[in-house]
Amino acid sequence: MKLLQLLKKSEGHFVSGARLAEALGVTRAGVHKNVQRLRALGHAVQAVPRKGYRLQDSPQALDPSELKDPWGKLLVHKPVMASTQEEAKRRAVAGAPEGTLIVADRQTAGRGRWGRAWESPVGGLWFSLLLKPRLSPAQAPALTLVAALEMARTLQRRTGLTPALKWPNDIWWDGRKLAGFLTEMSAEADRVHWLVLGVGVNVNNPAPKGLGLPAVSLRAALGRTVSRQLILSDWLGSFHEALRKYERDGFSPFKEAFEKLMLFRWNTVELETAAGPLVGEIRGVDDLGRLSFLKAGQTAPDHLLEGEIRLKLTR
Ligand code: BTN
Repeated sequence: MKLLQLLKKSEGHFVSGARLAEALGVTRAGVHKNVQRLRALGHAVQAVPRKGYRLQDSPQALDPSELKDPWGKLLVHKPVMASTQEEAKRRAVAGAPEGTLIVADRQTAGRGRWGRAWESPVGGLWFSLLLKPRLSPAQAPALTLVAALEMARTLQRRTGLTPALKWPNDIWWDGRKLAGFLTEMSAEADRVHWLVLGVGVNVNNPAPKGLGLPAVSLRAALGRTVSRQLILSDWLGSFHEALRKYERDGFSPFKEAFEKLMLFRWNTVELETAAGPLVGEIRGVDDLGRLSFLKAGQTAPDHLLEGEIRLKLTR
């Protein structure tokens, strides 16, 4: 947005409404409207009578033009979207390139796994990344584990918190959900055509109440605002590298790090699966990223591809 560029150029000094109106080719009321739009995107624009406008620190703001995007591909950032996931899939079908990144400040029809709704108010980080990895469909689920692991590491680096990974693809902190991942793809039996990785992180938004489970945001956890820009750009960089490694070497290089952060490891839990609920102990993950799960009464663990950990029963 041109107004943002003008305010940034003045490096924190005031710029009069008249000067901005002239530079933008709009009326003073037009300047005010633009300022409102910037504020809706999270930029802290200060307005002082007879001085004009200036840009204050904007930790809430997301400015894709300044993202260090390792794919350097198409970047779409909108204040409101129904779902970045749907938009990314539409573009995938139309032939958009790998690395296409769709970000929305707010989603009106955000979706979670298993067809659940995903609350996506202003303040959170909601995006979908289009990938065309050299993988078979069977390797796709563990790619989501890699994405979640890299996000947990990013959050650790950027906030100092130590989040936990709830297999297969949630990030939790202090017994509450902080982030979720949704992977959808188009594939043949032996080859992925495209894959859309949808990521939702509760950053500065109020913790969602309607997920049917306890949730938390980084701001609620830390008592301060966190930059979505830094989280997104840090994750894009590290995930880009991790993806190449995963394509080359599979999940084994990530297994130990994943298990270190794994929630409920060595605990007995109830696991909901398509075939019904199971009770057993979580042992870790295997070299393909499947859950190693020792069912009650068995001596060797099963390796499960799907399921949702519902409940921790005992230590
Ligand atoms: C889950 O935990 O159930 C997965 C949540 C995934 C939410 C993200 S937000 C960005 C992208 N757009 C959507 O509609 N969903 C994903």
